[in-house]
Parts: sequence; C-alpha cells; structure tokens
Amino acid sequence: MLEETRFVPYKQTAFAATETGINVTAPWLSLDVDVDDEQKIAVKRLLDRIASGVELSSDAEIQNFLAFFADYPVLHAAPRAFGSGGSIPYSSDAPELMRAKGPKQFLEALNPFPDIDIYDAFSYFPDTWEWNVDEIAAESRIAGSGTLFDPISVYTAIRARRLQFQIEQSKFAHELLENIEALRERDESRFFHLLAIVLSQQFYVTRECCSCLDPAIEHLSVISDQIRAYKEEEVHHDRLILASIRELTDQPETEFTFTPDTKLGIEVIKYAAKTCALGFSALVSIMEGTAYPASDPVGDILVKSSKPSARIGVEAHFQINKRGNHTAIPETFVRQLPPVTENTVAIATRLAEVAIRLDSGLAQSVLRDHF
Ligand SMILES: [Fe+2]
Repeated sequence: MLEETRFVPYKQTAFAATETGINVTAPWLSLDVDVDDEQKIAVKRLLDRIASGVELSSDAEIQNFLAFFADYPVLHAAPRAFGSGGSIPYSSDAPELMRAKGPKQFLEALNPFPDIDIYDAFSYFPDTWEWNVDEIAAESRIAGSGTLFDPISVYTAIRARRLQFQIEQSKFAHELLENIEALRERDESRFFHLLAIVLSQQFYVTRECCSCLDPAIEHLSVISDQIRAYKEEEVHHDRLILASIRELTDQPETEFTFTPDTKLGIEVIKYAAKTCALGFSALVSIMEGTAYPASDPVGDILVKSSKPSARIGVEAHFQINKRGNHTAIPETFVRQLPPVTENTVAIATRLAEVAIRLDSGLAQSVLRDHF
C-alpha cells in the first residue's frame, strides 16, 4: 500500500505574497487567493520556506498549505512511500506504441482512415520521440521499491510537460483566433463557415466520447467504475456543440470537416483505452482542456457576430467542463492505481506526447488550410 500523497511545487510554479493574499503562477496559470489580514504574516513566512525549497515534502505545515492548491495544475506529487502490505504492480503492454520510433510511425500503425496520409498530414511532427521517459521515471520512482513508480507522480510529471508544450504552442491558437476575429468584419459568411469547422472538431470529439469510454470500461478494469461515473457526465454533449453548429451552417452532419488531427486524436485515445489506464487518464485530461478562462474563447467571438445565439451550446458545454473541473477528473482514475512498472511509465509518456501534438496541431492545420 502507498502512503498519503505529498506535494512539491513544479519548478515552473511560483508563489508570491500580494496586497490581498497569495498569487500562484505557472506559465499556464495564474491564481489569486485572498488571505485574512491576521494570517498574512504567517503565510508570508510559509511562502519564504517554500521558496527555500528545503524538505517541503516532509514539513506538515507546508503540506497542509500546498494541499489547498492540489486541484490546480501547479504541484508535482512526490512519489509516495510504501506503507504496510504489498500490492501487485500495474503493468500495461502497448507493442505498437513501443515499437514505433516516433509519433508518426505510431500514428501510421493506428491509422484506419484510407484518405489520411500520416506522413503528409503530420510532416511537421518530429521523427523520434522527444519526451524523456527516464526523467519522468526519475521524478516518480518509489524509494526502496526497485523499479516501481508512483502513478500519481507520473501523472503530474506528464501534466507539467504537456502544459509547458501547450503554452509554447498557444501562439498558433491565438493567431487562429485573431485571424477568425478579423474575418468577422471582412467576410462574415466565411467567418461562420470557418467557425463551423472549428466547432466540428469539438463535435467529433464529443460524439466519439462513448467509442473511447466504452472500451476503457471493458479493458481497464482497475478504473472502470470511475470511468463509468465520468461517462454519465459526458454523454450527449455533442448535442450542445451541434446546436451551435446548426446556427452557423445547414450542412448535413455527413459533410462536416474533421481534421486528421482530430480523427487521429480519437484513435490514440481508443488505443489507450485498450492498453494503459495511466496513459488513458493523461489523455482524458488533455481532452478536457487546461486551466479554464471565464468563458469559451470561441463563444466569445460568436457573441459579437450577427448570430450571437450560436454561442449558447458551446458556452454551455464549456461551463460544464469548467464547473466540474473536468481536466482534473482523471486524477480520480489515477488514485485507484497501485505502483506501476517502468514500461507503463514509458507508455503513458509516449501516449501523452503524441496526443498533445495532435491536440495542438488543430490550430496549425486550420491556419494552414484556411488562411
Ligand atoms: Fe468534459
């Protein structure tokens, strides 16, 4: 059995005292927390100790403080210690993934779509895997266990890398939104057409939700109860997105444009659903977004157009994810797992690397094909 999780800030995370309380920042998130006046001095002292970085995981007061931020992607879970009793490690097997020398080869092995040429669609992907499995293993190795790894630590280590990757890629998403926004004033009918394409990707993902979750319930028995509960939250969300699309176009569903990034993204999740509970958890978190802004950025653009009600469906879906902090739901999956094998660490890392490239690729492919 593993003991309770202890947290340390990511190396990218900074805590600072402010006029009103505390500000926590990472490149992908900024959070302000109010602190009562009488507690400010004590908090300041705590922040100084955190900044010193000494013995954070064994200091009960600091652990109490950090636990407050555990729902936000700003902390790494230090590998837990073994308590009393043993448990059988979780091991997964993904030969197609582990055989591939890089993301493209893996996608080629998965690709069921005759009209998608992987090496053409993803020519900008690297030829080899770039994320360092040994580094993630080092951050999650359970002391004294030989070669066993804490799944929660693997999960938080992967999360830091994918958020860092996303933030580095976010310039494409901004550029796309700016281009679309400019188009609204210039050519509104093309603007609606393009937004229908953007929303079609969300529609595809929400429509395919059960084709990802059902095999996971079947194959990933260690977390199937948790996935079943999650599925309850997710079903029929495609209807919300479709309601928005319907305001923008009368194209039949069969003629919607789905990009290779979107389609292969779902194939990767389906693959994870049959092979690796830890990798699957990392992918669900990616699909659910990152840190949520106040409202959906696409909805914000739509509301300024001549069809403002097109925003309603997409905004409703966004608020469901935000309110339920859906990006953190997979943590409930990972908490069910016993220590994992080194091969599982590698599988989860590679699955996350390919998924985040596909996820960030969407903005690039719409920019490339339509601007
Ligand atoms: Fe969701």
